[in-house]
Amino acid sequence: MASSPMAGKTMRAVQYGGYGGGFAALKHVEVPIPSPKKDEVLLKLEAASINPADWRIQKGIFRPFIPAKFPFIPVSDVAGEVADVGSAVKDFKAGDKVVSVLSMKNGGGLAEYAVASSSLTVHRSPEVSAADGSGLPIAASTALQVLKSGGAKFDGTGKPLNVLITAASGGVGSYAVQLAKLIDLHVTATCGARNIELVKSLGADEVLDYKSSDGAKLKSPSGKKYDAVVHCTAGIDWSTFAPNLSDNGKVIYISPSTSTFLNYAIKKLTFAKKKVVPLFAVPKKEDLEFLVGLVKEGKLKTVVDSKYSLSKAEEAWAKSIDGHATGTWYLQRFKELTD
Ligand SMILES: NC(=O)c1ccc[n+]([C@@H]2O[C@H](COP(=O)([O-])OP(=O)(O)OC[C@H]3O[C@@H](n4cnc5c(N)ncnc54)[C@H](OP(=O)(O)O)[C@@H]3O)[C@@H](O)[C@H]2O)c1
Repeated sequence: MASSPMAGKTMRAVQYGGYGGGFAALKHVEVPIPSPKKDEVLLKLEAASINPADWRIQKGIFRPFIPAKFPFIPVSDVAGEVADVGSAVKDFKAGDKVVSVLSMKNGGGLAEYAVASSSLTVHRSPEVSAADGSGLPIAASTALQVLKSGGAKFDGTGKPLNVLITAASGGVGSYAVQLAKLIDLHVTATCGARNIELVKSLGADEVLDYKSSDGAKLKSPSGKKYDAVVHCTAGIDWSTFAPNLSDNGKVIYISPSTSTFLNYAIKKLTFAKKKVVPLFAVPKKEDLEFLVGLVKEGKLKTVVDSKYSLSKAEEAWAKSIDGHATGTWYLQRFKELTD
C-alpha cells in the first residue's frame, strides 16, 4: 500500500489532556499528521466551527465514552481540501473542496489536518465558502432534523405549520429560522434584544425578546398557536409552553434534562395529544448534501459570530462557553495564517 504523502510530517494542533479546565486547558502542540484509513479522507482544514457539544465533551458529559482517549484534539465540524484518500475511497480525490463532520469520539478539528470518514464528507462547490460550510454539520443538521420531527417536509408535500424557535440567534436557531421560512412555515422566534433585527433578517415573522415579560410567556404576538417548538435553549417549564401549543403541538428539546425525559414518559403513557420530544441529531450524509446545496443556491447562510485563527482557539472556546454566540464560532482559514 502506498504511504500517505504526509507520512512523517507534523502539523499544529490544539488539544487537552483530560476532563475539565475550560479554555485554560487547551494546549498548542506539534503532532504527526494523521493517515487516512481505508474509508477515510485526509483534509487540509480551512475552517472549523465550535459547537456547545465540543466544550461539553471537555466537561465530561459523555464520560467515559467520549473522547475515545486523551490527549484529545476537539471539534467535529470542518471544511477543507482533500489532501489524501484511503485505499477504498472512490468519490474524492486530492484537491476536492469538502465539508465533513468528524467523529465526536476522535475529534480532530482544531488542527491543520484531520481525517474524516468519506461517508460523512460531501463535496463543496466554489460558491460555498469554508466558513459557510463548516457551520453546517452539527448546527444546521440539527435544525433540519428538529423541523422534520416537528412535521415539516422539505419535498413540497408539507402543510402549513406555526413554529416557535427559541434561541433563534444561536447556531441551531439561526439555521432553523431560515430552513422553516424556505418552506413557508410561520415563524415566531425568541432571542435577546440585540439580535432581534438579525433574526428578522433571517426571515422570522415575529420576534420576542426572551428577557421581556411577553417573551418569557412565549406568546405569539399574532395569537398563533404553535404546532411545533424548536427548543434550542433550556430552563423553560412545560407550563409555559402548554397554553401556547395547538391541540397536537410538540415541543422538541435539543438540550433535554432529566425532567424532559420524565415529562416525555408521562405524555406517552397518558396518550397526551401535546407532546414532548427529546432529540439528539444524528449526522447524515444526505442531510449535509441537502444543506450544502442550499448554501450553493444562496438559500441558506451561516451566521458567523467571530473568526479566530488557530493560535487564538482558546478565545473562541471561552466565548462559546460563555453562551452568547450569535450564529456559530468559526476559526479562520488555517492556510492563510500568518501568526
Ligand atoms: N440534541 C442535539 O443533537 C443538539 C445539537 C446541537 C446543539 N444542541 C444543544 O442545543 C443548544 C443550542 O445550541 P446552539 O449551538 O444553537 O447554542 P448557541 O449558539 O451557543 O446559543 C447561544 C444563543 O442562545 C441565545 N439564548 C440563550 N438563552 C436564551 C433564551 N432563554 N431564550 C432565547 N435565546 C437565548 C443567546 O442569546 P443572548 O446572547 O442574547 O443571551 C445566544 O445568541 C446547546 O445546549 C447545544 O448543546 C443539541
